[in-house]
Amino acid sequence: MQSVLVTGAAGGIGTRLRKLLKGVYPRIRWSDIKKPADLAPDEEFVLADVSDMAACEKLTAGMEGIVHLGGHSTEGSWETILNANIIGCYNMFEAAYRNNVKRVVFASSNHAIGFYPRTQKIGTDVTVHPDSRYGISKAFGEATGAFYSDKHALRVTCLRIGNFGDKPVDERRLSIWLKPEDLVQLIRIGLEHPDIKFEIFYGASDNAATWWDNSNARKFGYKPTGKGEDYRAEAMESQKKLPKDPVGDRYQGGTYCSDEYDADRRG
Ligand SMILES: NC(=O)c1ccc[n+]([C@@H]2O[C@H](COP(=O)([O-])OP(=O)(O)OC[C@H]3O[C@@H](n4cnc5c(N)ncnc54)[C@H](O)[C@@H]3O)[C@@H](O)[C@H]2O)c1
Repeated sequence: MQSVLVTGAAGGIGTRLRKLLKGVYPRIRWSDIKKPADLAPDEEFVLADVSDMAACEKLTAGMEGIVHLGGHSTEGSWETILNANIIGCYNMFEAAYRNNVKRVVFASSNHAIGFYPRTQKIGTDVTVHPDSRYGISKAFGEATGAFYSDKHALRVTCLRIGNFGDKPVDERRLSIWLKPEDLVQLIRIGLEHPDIKFEIFYGASDNAATWWDNSNARKFGYKPTGKGEDYRAEAMESQKKLPKDPVGDRYQGGTYCSDEYDADRRG
């Protein structure tokens, strides 16, 4: 893997990855719709809106791999999600295909399966149950990845990221936390492992309170180093400050499930 494009370079994850991926690949092209404030002089950066197909074609030219993080990263209006995440994601896969890019790692989300109850442990082979328009867009991204893999032999890895950060900050996060270095491991498996065709992994560290069976990632050599339990006391202390959420506390997606929820009144 000689040349890698990473979108979402100015975001929370992109900003960390710009440090953690330094020197890992000979050439990394960073991109975002806005320029990162802390861009270093030796970093290659291209300003681009992923909802613009022509821009995506230019962006992906000459790249061997793509890590697609760019887009709207929370719930949003349909128009916002449609442009940044649905059209944007389609454009990235289609541009990758047109430019003969070999591999794509797509930042999916736990919100693609947010309506599974916390009492149920799920693998990566379950039907999607998105909890938001944002979650729908991530399910769309996974389906688009499967399509380009099956039809055009693009090697695609979808990471259903839980919650990226230095530590889990509340009870829900004890189950879904992803340590930055563990994300790097997952990305490197997606970009480098010889047997990747189309895979879905949970983007989660070694959390004892997990709701997910991540054995598929482990099969590819994933050895997470973060342990959510190491932060239990702190996380539960912060949890005390959060209001009770009868719907959100039942489901894996948390407040994304209770937001706009009226199934109890309409069902
Ligand atoms: N942070 C997490 O815990 C988490 C969890 C699940 C999934 N994810 C996914 O991982 C990715 C990165 O997350 P993040 O936390 O860094 O999000 P972020 O919001 O901090 O960063 C996203 C970046 O995408 C850029 N962007 C938005 N619209 C764009 C467009 N039309 N064209 C090009 N760039 C655009 C933004 O400018 C931003 O810098 C996102 O796809 C997000 O959905 C993150």
